[in-house]
Amino acid sequence: MSPGHPDASALRDLAVALARSAGDLLTTDRADDLLPGTKSSPTDLVTVMDRAAERLILDGLLEARPEDAVLAEESGSRQGSTNVRWIVDPLDGTVNYYYGIPAYGVSIAAEVDGVVVAGAVYSALHRGVFDAVLGGGSRFSGSTARCSSITDLSLSLVGTGFSYSAERRAGQGRVVGKLLPQIRDIRRIGAAALDLCAVGSGHLDAFFELDLKPWDYAAGLLIAAEGGARTGTLDSPDGQVVISAAPGVYEVLVGELRRLYGAGST
Ligand code: IPD
Ligand code: CA
Ligand code: CA
Repeated sequence: MSPGHPDASALRDLAVALARSAGDLLTTDRADDLLPGTKSSPTDLVTVMDRAAERLILDGLLEARPEDAVLAEESGSRQGSTNVRWIVDPLDGTVNYYYGIPAYGVSIAAEVDGVVVAGAVYSALHRGVFDAVLGGGSRFSGSTARCSSITDLSLSLVGTGFSYSAERRAGQGRVVGKLLPQIRDIRRIGAAALDLCAVGSGHLDAFFELDLKPWDYAAGLLIAAEGGARTGTLDSPDGQVVISAAPGVYEVLVGELRRLYGAGST
């Protein structure tokens, strides 16, 4: 590995190790009092465990790769002097975690020159780690992960999520209401990184969500794409919609979402 061309597999291995350690911390060392605070709205929670998991990950990155940049949900950006940037969601699915619902995870992605080349997502639901390197396929706990081969949107199970902003949620609800009669069903699992891994491993046929942040989707989008799913975004008047779906239903879903959001796509 040369300094200008870091080895994506090595970045992936570090992401996997730190996602697993942070996942173990969240699962086995859950604080008795989560001391919840709020962020963008009264429903947008942050707990002591979000911060503890982030500290563990940032300490691990500092020790292994002290010169890299970091974008982390709870503490923001750290500048680096290499072409590598880490994108960290220390606890994706905080509301589930707070309520004791085991659909939460840890998401860590590594970018080189602005392109995500490696990612790892710990899933408490599956008690394991999804990972991928660009061009190298996706895995769950070391075994190959693949998206579904579905070709019919009306039989597709589609995941989505809702904003912490009540106003945005009203619009998202209207879109879901119009999409529902055209699909098998909707799932709102509550952790976008896990939703994207579910598309990459065939546990969902498709996923879309308005207004996600890079830490929600950086690792999951790579894992979905490397599992064979198609990925993209729509720029709607309400904001960006991240989309991933099995190749057999992607175009028709994007067309429908474009119509419902009144959007262009990239
Ligand atoms: C949230 C989850 C949720 C999604 C929200 C995200 P957080 O992340 O991924 O499923 O609908 O948009 O903000 O706050 O639990 O890290
Ligand atoms: Ca998140
Ligand atoms: Ca989070």
